Amino acid sequence: MSDKTACIVGASRGIGLGLAKHLAARGYRVFATERSHSEALAEAAAESAGAIEVHTADVTDPSSIAFLGEAIGRDALDILVLNAGVYGGSAQALEDLTRENVADIMMTNAVCPAQAAVALMPCMKDGGCIGMMTSKMGSIEDSSGGTNLYRLSKTGQNVLARSLFEKHARARGISVLSLHPGWVQTDMGGPNALIDVDTSVRGMIDLLEAEREPCHVFLAYDGQEVGW
Ligand SMILES: NC(=O)c1ccc[n+]([C@@H]2O[C@H](COP(=O)([O-])OP(=O)(O)OC[C@H]3O[C@@H](n4cnc5c(N)ncnc54)[C@H](OP(=O)(O)O)[C@@H]3O)[C@@H](O)[C@H]2O)c1
Repeated sequence: MSDKTACIVGASRGIGLGLAKHLAARGYRVFATERSHSEALAEAAAESAGAIEVHTADVTDPSSIAFLGEAIGRDALDILVLNAGVYGGSAQALEDLTRENVADIMMTNAVCPAQAAVALMPCMKDGGCIGMMTSKMGSIEDSSGGTNLYRLSKTGQNVLARSLFEKHARARGISVLSLHPGWVQTDMGGPNALIDVDTSVRGMIDLLEAEREPCHVFLAYDGQEVGW
C-alpha cells in the first residue's frame, strides 16, 4: 500500500461510501466513518484488503471527531472529505422555517462539518486537500429559489469553507474545494437523478488529487466552476 491517506466523514452509504471505495482502489489508506453499523461499508472494508478502516463518528458530536483525529494521527492525510449531510425534509417553504429546523440543518450541514475540518487540521499533511460536500443548491447565483432549509445550509457551509481556507488551510498550502457532486442516484438524490455514484466520485477524486496553488473554489464533479 502507498502512503497516500484519506478520510471520509459520512461513508455509510451513497456518495461517501463511493468515495471510500474508489480511494481504496486508487491505493489510499482510507479512514471511513459511519454513525451506526453499515453493512455496505463493512463489505467494502472486507473487500479492500485492509485499505478501508471503519470508525464511528457523528459530525455533530465533537468528541467523536476528536477520537477520529486521535486514530488518524498527525500529518497523515492527503485528502479529507466532509461528506455528511441531510436534506431537511419536504416542508421547506419560507413559511415552514422555524428556529428549530433552521438550527438543526445549519448545524449538521454547515457549522459542524466546518468545525470538524478545523478539529482534523492537525491530521492534514501540508499541501493536502479538503473537500467540503456542498451542492449547486447552495449557489445564490444559480438558484430558482425554494428548498430553503437545504439551500440555506449549503450556502452557509460555503461561507464557512472560505473561513476554513483563509484562517486554517491557506498558510499550510492546503486547498479547500466546495464540491457539487452532481445530481446523483443515492437515497438523497433518488432514482431519477442524472448520474451514478461512480461517475460523481471519479470526477471528484480527480479534482481532490489535482495539483493546484492553495485556493478555495466551488467546483462541480466534472471540474466546472459553480457561481457563488
Ligand atoms: N445525491 C445528490 O444528488 C446530492 C447533490 C448535491 C449534494 N449532495 C450532498 O452530498 C452528500 C452525500 O449525499 P448522498 O446523496 O450520498 O446522501 P445519502 O445517501 O442520504 O447519505 C448521506 C450520508 O451522510 C451521513 N450523515 C448524515 N448525517 C450525519 C451526521 N450527523 N454525522 C455523520 N454522518 C451523517 C449519512 O449517514 P447515515 O447512514 O448514518 O444516515 C450518510 O452516510 C451530502 O452532503 C449531500 O447534501 C448530494
